[in-house]
Amino acid sequence: MKVLIATEKPFAAAAVDGIRKEVEAAGHTLALLEKYTEKTQLLDAVKDADALIIRSDKADADVFNAAKNLKIVVRAGAGYDNIDLAAATAHNVVAENTPGQNSNAVAELVLGLLVYAVRNFYNGKSGSELKGKKLGILAFGNVGRNVARIAKGFGMEVYAYDAFCPKNVIEEAGVKAVDSQEALFENCDIVSLHIPATPETKQSINYALVNKLHKGGILINTARKEVINEPELIKLLGEREDLKFITDIKPEADADFAKFEGRYFTTPKKMGAQTAEANINAGIAAAKQIKAFFANGDTKFQVNK
Ligand SMILES: NC(=O)c1ccc[n+]([C@@H]2O[C@H](COP(=O)([O-])OP(=O)(O)OC[C@H]3O[C@@H](n4cnc5c(N)ncnc54)[C@H](O)[C@@H]3O)[C@@H](O)[C@H]2O)c1
Repeated sequence: MKVLIATEKPFAAAAVDGIRKEVEAAGHTLALLEKYTEKTQLLDAVKDADALIIRSDKADADVFNAAKNLKIVVRAGAGYDNIDLAAATAHNVVAENTPGQNSNAVAELVLGLLVYAVRNFYNGKSGSELKGKKLGILAFGNVGRNVARIAKGFGMEVYAYDAFCPKNVIEEAGVKAVDSQEALFENCDIVSLHIPATPETKQSINYALVNKLHKGGILINTARKEVINEPELIKLLGEREDLKFITDIKPEADADFAKFEGRYFTTPKKMGAQTAEANINAGIAAAKQIKAFFANGDTKFQVNK
């Protein structure tokens, strides 16, 4: 089988080496399309590929139309909104992600950004500490669980709400489970967002919700920008000078948020999963999933079921 890695933004070399080892050990061949600049290059490269590994690359209907032999596409990463799932299904292609492989990287960034925020972006003025502060984790998935683990090390009091994760799973991790996202914001000094972008969550982080945060509250987003109602958050930041907003996903209205100097910070580009370890883990997980799929039809991580 021919496995194609198609990455506009390439994997680390060590990740490609690891993928190659996995793929070739199983008797498959590996092809590489890196740093492509035109969609036509991708459409050409996928023509005879049986499996495709991508990062943030778009796998849309054109890709599935061009890839006549394609049986599986794996997004090396957690979010898979860059894959047109309906088109994949229509072409009988199994679409997978590699959940959990970058969650520690994202979680470490959350705590790093929070230290930066409570120390006033290192502006020379005395700040505050995370120890003893109440942290609310919105969604107790792979990233949320890692944030909880690290935050407990900082001595934070950790709360979580997840619409689907049973309360006892949250409590067993030493975290206080609350009944709603409203309760999470009401109870906490800091809320960290780890929800996916779905029809229910899009625009759900709005004025009324964030306004429930304690005085001096911080909202931190390392999930997806679509979950935030930007106009409402801008209005709230204008009214409440005690609030800070920290994000790893530059908002559409970055220039408007930037007016809240000293209370707003965005990473220049999404940095959460940008570590050598996450890169290697996700790439190798993708290769292993493809191997298992061809060896015994394993579709454990399929997202278009
Ligand atoms: N900043 C980055 O570079 C980066 C990297 C990885 C992931 N992410 C983003 O972080 C988020 C979390 O990733 P993850 O790997 O933890 O995902 P995950 O699938 O492991 O966890 C998501 C959790 O959200 C819960 N959930 C779904 N809908 C909900 C709702 N309406 N209300 C409350 N909870 C709900 C699910 O039950 C699940 O526990 C995603 O948005 C992902 O795209 C960002």
